[in-house]
Parts: sequence; C-alpha cells; structure tokens
Amino acid sequence: MTKRLTTTAGAPIADNQNSLTAGARGPVLMQDYQLMEKLAHQNRERIPERTVHAKGWGAHGTLRITGDITKYTCAKVFEPGSETPMLARFSTVAGEMGAADHERDVRGFALKFYTSEGNWDMVGNNTPVFFIRDPYKFPDFIHTQKRHPRSNLRSPTAMWDFWSLSPESIHQVMILMSDRGLPKTPMNMNGYGSHTYSFWNNDGERFWVKFHFKTAQGHAHYTNEEGNAIIGNTREGFQEALFGTIESGDFPKWRFYVQIMSEKEAETTPYNPFDLTKVWPHADYPLIEVGEFELNRNPDNYFAEIEQAAFSPSNIVPGIGFSPDKMLQARVFSYADAHRHRLGTHYEALPVNTPKCPVHHYHKDGAMNFMGQQSGVTDAYYEPNSFGGPIEDPSVAEPPLRIDGDAARYDHRDGNDDYSQPRALHDLMDAAQQNRLYCNTAAAMQGVPQDIIDRMLTHYDKVSKAYGDGVRAALSEG
Ligand code: NDP
Ligand code: HEM
Repeated sequence: MTKRLTTTAGAPIADNQNSLTAGARGPVLMQDYQLMEKLAHQNRERIPERTVHAKGWGAHGTLRITGDITKYTCAKVFEPGSETPMLARFSTVAGEMGAADHERDVRGFALKFYTSEGNWDMVGNNTPVFFIRDPYKFPDFIHTQKRHPRSNLRSPTAMWDFWSLSPESIHQVMILMSDRGLPKTPMNMNGYGSHTYSFWNNDGERFWVKFHFKTAQGHAHYTNEEGNAIIGNTREGFQEALFGTIESGDFPKWRFYVQIMSEKEAETTPYNPFDLTKVWPHADYPLIEVGEFELNRNPDNYFAEIEQAAFSPSNIVPGIGFSPDKMLQARVFSYADAHRHRLGTHYEALPVNTPKCPVHHYHKDGAMNFMGQQSGVTDAYYEPNSFGGPIEDPSVAEPPLRIDGDAARYDHRDGNDDYSQPRALHDLMDAAQQNRLYCNTAAAMQGVPQDIIDRMLTHYDKVSKAYGDGVRAALSEG
C-alpha cells in the first residue's frame, strides 16, 4: 500500500509539488509552512566535517576469533570461536570531504567492535607508525597538511619544512612516499593499531600489545601517474570499489594478528616501545594469529551510519587498556571531544554508535536527549542512590600500573634513533620500489625552497647514502 506523505508532526500533506501563492504568478504566502520547513531543513543538512580524515568509506562486518590469546587478555571479544558485529571506516587524512580518493596520503583504518562488554574502537591507520611522537605537535603537523591561510592551497613548503625540522617523521614520510602511499582500493591495504596498547588477563598480568590487520586481498598500489589518470575519470574510486565489491557479495577480509611484549621486556628494548614512530621488529615480537574480519554489509544510509560514526581510542573494554604512549593519551581525550562538537552531546546514543549490550549511565539532559532516563530506573538519576540504580563492578578493574618520574617537559627528540628503522625499510625494498620511493619524494617536493630540500636530504643521507642520492637524482631529472 502506498504510504501517505506527512509533515514531521504526522499531519497528512495535500500537495508536495506546488507552493502556496497569491495567484498563479503571485508571491508565496508566509503560511506555506511546509515550504519554509523544507528550506530550513536543507540549511541544516550538513554537520561539521571531521577536522582530519574527512573523506571516508565504510561498511559493516563481522569479526571471527580463530586463535586463542586468552592467556594475555580476558576481553570477551577474544573468546575462541566468538563472532562480533563491527563497523569499519577507511579514510584519507588531509583532504576535505570532496577530496579525490586516489590521492597519495596515509589512510585511516577505524574499526568499531560491538562487543558484549561495550564498544571497542580500534582507530588505526594503514601504516604501523606516525609522523610525530608528542601530541603537542599534532595541531602544528595538521596545519601543514591543510590549506595555507593566504593562498588557500595545500603547501608542499609547509609540509617539507615541518618534516625536515622533525626527524621523527622520516619513517612515516618514507612509507607515505613508498608504494603503500597510494593503495588501489581500501581492500588492498593493511591496518595497524600503530600505538602500543595493553592487555590484561584473568590473573591480573599485564602485557603490551600491538594490533595488525593484514589484507587477504593482497597489497596493490597505483603509481602517481595511474592515480592521476583515475582521478581524471572519477574522484570516488575507493567508494565505488568498496561499495561495489560488497554489493556483489565478494566480501573483503583482513587477518588479525597481535604482537605481545611483556612488561619486563619493555624495560630493556633498545628503543622506547611506547614511541609511535617505531615498530616492534617481527623477528623479536612475532605476529600471533587472532582471527579475521570480513566486511559484508553496505550501510543503508551513508550519512547516518558512516558520517555519524564516532570512533574513539577512549572506547576500550575490560581486558584491553592504554599504555604510556603520549600520543595515545592525547587521543583518548581528543576524539570524544571532537564528537561532542561534531555530532552533539549524546553522540553515543546514535544508532550506529550505540552499543549492542545493555547501557546504564547517569548522564542527564542536554540537547537531543531522545533516550530518556539512562540509568534504567526512574528515581535513580544520581549515584549512590537507594532506588536500585546501576552500580559499579569492581571485578572489571584494570590491574594497577606503576608509573614514576618527575613531572617535566622532556625533549622527545633527545637521544632518539630516527634513522635505523627507516634504513631497515629502505633495505627491504627492491630496486624498483626504491626508485619509485625516490621519484615520489622528488615529485612531492616540487616548488619547495632549496634550503628546505637540502635539510631533508641530510636526513635521507643519514638513513642511507643511496636514499639521499636517489632523491637527489630524481630531483635533478625533474
Ligand atoms: P620484517 O622483514 O620482518 O618486516 C618488514 C615488513 O615491512 C613486512 O612484513 C611488511 O609489513 C612491511 N613492508 C614491506 N614493504 C613495505 C612498504 N613499502 N612500506 C611499508 N611497509 C612495508 O622486518 P622488521 O619487522 O624488522 O621491520 C623492518 C621494517 O619494516 C621496519 O623498520 C618498518 O619500517 C617496516 N615495517 C615493520 C612492521 C612491523 O610491525 N615490524 C610493519 C610494517 C612495516 P606487513 O607484513 O605488515 O605488510
Ligand atoms: C580522526 C585527532 C593521531 C587515526 C581524528 C579526529 C581527530 C583526531 C580530532 C576527528 C574525529 C572526528 O571528528 O570524528 C588526533 C590526535 C592525534 C591523532 C589529537 C595525535 C595526538 C592519530 C593516529 C592515528 C589516527 C596516530 C592512527 C594510528 C585517525 C583516524 C581517524 C582520525 C582513522 C578517522 C576516524 C573515522 O573514520 O571517523 N583524529 N589524531 N589519528 N584519526 Fe586521529
């Protein structure tokens, strides 16, 4: 049966084609409220785009646990054989919502697992490291990726100025300029939690952990030239690929692994294991299989399910914890703050964000409280109370973490080896990969003042003379 069109207040609408006018040619009447309503709603159809990672592509899926890591973590999501519904959103970092998908950029890899003990968000990238190691520098770094205040253009000068003054960025810039900086589709890239997180088990033991998600579709990349040709035809290549693949029933998959480090080992590694610009070498900390996830359902409404998705590293569940990583600590604050601004006070109650387990809290009122009383008990709107409101559960307390040290602003560049791990990466690339790395780097430096290029080349020389000379040669070939 055809549904009757109504106002948002439920009253039937007689005419949705013609405005109410004084005479056939005449002006519209103020009392045509539905015209006002349609125009007013249109003016409110956009919300602020994400300040970073604005352009994204997402889908729903399922996590399946095939391995057994219960000796490291009591998180229910890792019970062998279990399945957990999930949401994934991939993104580029720098471009705005209308940016072309096939631009060279780091890709976001954000996962929300709707576990039986609350939502666990794993908000990672397709790279195992990051540009900076101190969150104090994040707004400065992002300014270099966004538009110049005067020209309103992206500024390679700003990017290379910042990077050349921040040697900790070399590792990530190298991956960005390598083949992996321009994946063919979201299905052809790995995801990494990047930070060190923690696990704790039923005996109260803590372990440090890194998360890895490896594409089952295989790595595949475009060259700059191929990427540019695609952008000439479509700016939406990632959306077309992900949406189309899932629509056709060919569900993409990622294998899920962890690396584990004991608290004792963390005291003796030659690098700071909580430094986001470093990986843990596979040979020392081998990958342990956990399971796999597949993406198997496209959103029915992109805005409601992907644009309104709110991922936050602060969303952890019992058995998973944070680490001393300064960057992670800052992200724990930053994302929920962004969501309150971008989506509103009660963003966690939006259907895509709401946990698929019981939720009972004492937050109250605020714009758009459409959930009513969240403690679940009418008279229990504060805590403690005598009316049977929800109470805390000490059994899920994290084991104590020993922290010491004097409060000070420690130089995060002091004594850090920013060159060895990039050197290991450079050395594992074959000659053709290295050549593309040099050419992509030189291409990205076009128009940058020579003194800034020279400063960057001194870093590349320290990674490997071949690297510095390779970029020099590519620059001179233009
Ligand atoms: P391994 O030889 O065991 O690992 C090297 C890893 O490098 C591969 O497993 C692959 O990661 C990754 N890789 C290969 N080509 C590229 C590329 N073009 N861009 C980015 N990553 C690539 O050695 P180590 O573990 O000792 O690491 C050596 C270097 O490899 C590191 O310094 C780091 O730069 C890089 N790397 C290391 C990772 C780690 O977690 N140990 C993860 C990713 C990169 P994958 O298997 O994840 O696809
Ligand atoms: C998005 C802050 C580092 C991955 C965002 C957003 C903010 C932010 C404010 C927008 C959130 C929104 O509006 O929904 C920061 C800060 C960082 C940092 C302050 C460092 C101090 C990182 C790192 C990674 C990362 C290291 C990956 C390892 C992402 C991803 C998104 C994102 C994937 C998009 C999430 C989505 O799909 O909605 N970040 N970020 N960020 N960030 Fe970060």
